[in-house]
Amino acid sequence: MAELRIPRAHSNEWYDHLATVEDGYYYPRSSRLGARNGEDAYQEVVDEHLKDGMRVLEVGCGHGELAVDLATKASHVTAYDRIAPWIERAAQTAADRGVNNIDYICHDAADPAHDRVTLPVGDNSVDLFGCRRGPLHWIPDAERVAKPGAVILHLAPMEEPIPAWTSKLPHKLHYENCGRYSGAGSIHISVENRLHQAGLTLDSGWGFDVPERFDDARELYTVVTWGLPRDEVPPFEDIEHRFERIFETHAEDGAVVLRHCRYLWKAIVG
Ligand SMILES: C[S@@+](CC[C@H](N)C(=O)[O-])C[C@H]1O[C@@H](n2cnc3c(N)ncnc32)[C@H](O)[C@@H]1O
Repeated sequence: MAELRIPRAHSNEWYDHLATVEDGYYYPRSSRLGARNGEDAYQEVVDEHLKDGMRVLEVGCGHGELAVDLATKASHVTAYDRIAPWIERAAQTAADRGVNNIDYICHDAADPAHDRVTLPVGDNSVDLFGCRRGPLHWIPDAERVAKPGAVILHLAPMEEPIPAWTSKLPHKLHYENCGRYSGAGSIHISVENRLHQAGLTLDSGWGFDVPERFDDARELYTVVTWGLPRDEVPPFEDIEHRFERIFETHAEDGAVVLRHCRYLWKAIVG
């Protein structure tokens, strides 16, 4: 079998590649996502905790779209990500809209050149931490930057079951290799371990597992090839028959269903 030259999904190398093909972090597919899927709950819980005049830190902000909403209520938002072109796009979008209370910072909080994780804000300066679908690396520095009673809200990808049909596809396109698959294991345990190591505790955690329906073969191809280097991916036309076969044997009411899984959690610092 040929050696796989595919970066691990959500590694720095994977994001660096994604940034060459997408001008932000978004899912290029079209699907029908079940209700109460965690994405909406994250937005609700953020709205509930965000009060006028707060200083907010958004971790791993991608191309920064959420920070613009946060900035309507917050007195100041710092939003950071290690992908420079996404941060440049975010800053430009905010400037075009006349939003001037956001600092978009290109920063790698887990930069291996430093001996400890560092958030790009000063001591005792954050009322609310928001992180949608982002990493957990920054938790050890949360207490330093938090004001007493600051709240962390985080929506994490939760590991999804691998669909039975994955073996019908070429090895490189197996579900475990695509960007959708988090491989996160027991995310609630990972979160609690990270918090405990930082001297913090979980306040609340909520799991979400809803169907996401794909209506045609090309959309499913988009899912399993997302984030993979183009030169590693066969064109759709060459493997269309395999996706059609998957639809013939696995579709329910004309759609192939994947699970969309999220873990939403909250912690209070100090
Ligand atoms: C799954 S994406 C989510 C992006 C955005 N929050 C959203 O919901 O669209 C995770 C983001 O975390 C960023 N990230 C991962 N590790 C990072 C690190 N060590 N420092 C800064 N950003 C990081 C990635 O570059 C990526 O943009």
